[in-house]
Amino acid sequence: MKKIAILTRDCAGINAAIRSAVRTALTHNLEIVGILRGYEGLINGEIMPLNHRSVSGIINRGGTILKTSRSKNFYLNSGQEKAVKSIKENNIDGLIVIGGNGSLTAAHILATNYQIPIIGVPATIDNDISGVDLSIGADTAVNVALDALDKIRDTATSLERIFIVEVMGRSCGYIALNVALAGGCEEVIVPEKELDLDIMCNEIIEGNEKGKMSWIIIVAEGKAKAQDIAEIITKKTKLETRIAVLGHIQRGGRPTATDRRLGTILGNYAVEVLINGTTDHCVTIKNDKFISFPLSDAIKTKKIDVDTSYKLIKVLT
Ligand code: F6P
Repeated sequence: MKKIAILTRDCAGINAAIRSAVRTALTHNLEIVGILRGYEGLINGEIMPLNHRSVSGIINRGGTILKTSRSKNFYLNSGQEKAVKSIKENNIDGLIVIGGNGSLTAAHILATNYQIPIIGVPATIDNDISGVDLSIGADTAVNVALDALDKIRDTATSLERIFIVEVMGRSCGYIALNVALAGGCEEVIVPEKELDLDIMCNEIIEGNEKGKMSWIIIVAEGKAKAQDIAEIITKKTKLETRIAVLGHIQRGGRPTATDRRLGTILGNYAVEVLINGTTDHCVTIKNDKFISFPLSDAIKTKKIDVDTSYKLIKVLT
């Protein structure tokens, strides 16, 4: 292996992983290039050389210096063939893909259908990659949301209001559950759990009668919209509600120490694993050990234990 390439999605901690992978590759006297704009850039041959200095001063920056995109073209055979052509024309011997389920699924396709040596690095704020305890970006996302929530709580308690706060999470309640637990919230609505608004509204009415006036309800965007929940609560309880939709602020921002450390470790380990001949694998940390396992397992739906966290939230309400 003489030349490797890096392709990424975006979230906090990915720049730390790029920096680590680049400097590790250079230590092994490998040439290393970055693919701009994710799979769309790979299809279009947007490739730039990387060196020690091109990754200086990025460990503390969110997003990705390589830019990214959501590529629909990659899911066409013609797109995949163009991507493979770019890899061959640029003499790329191996690829490190840093991203979530979509990126790792595409990596698995390139590895299995086109025999491209590939290692995936899990990076997604949703933390929904199977077999991975913690993905790069998830810790920062929870902390960014928590910071916003603490500010909302000041108004919620001062005015004794009900707030519905919508956090990210398309089909996974990881951010919602963790923010609800760490933020001392009264209720959480996640895709993995059935929603019974009648029970919730009755609890709010009962609480209100006992003098509990302020509620913070976290909702994962993939399950419901804060605005809709607020309207139903107001209708059923006759109490005033306010909403906050946190949106993409959660995917950006200065990476936490946890995400910088994770990115640094996994960026390095991905290169080591790739040059040792492993392919079609995902790297992660399990029980303090660095491991790699098949991408086919990583892209399966991750099951999270919602009930334990939910029960605890209700005990503490
Ligand atoms: O998968 C990560 C994620 O941030 C989800 O939490 C969110 O639903 C989705 O991406 C948003 O995608 P986009 O940035 O393309 O709107």
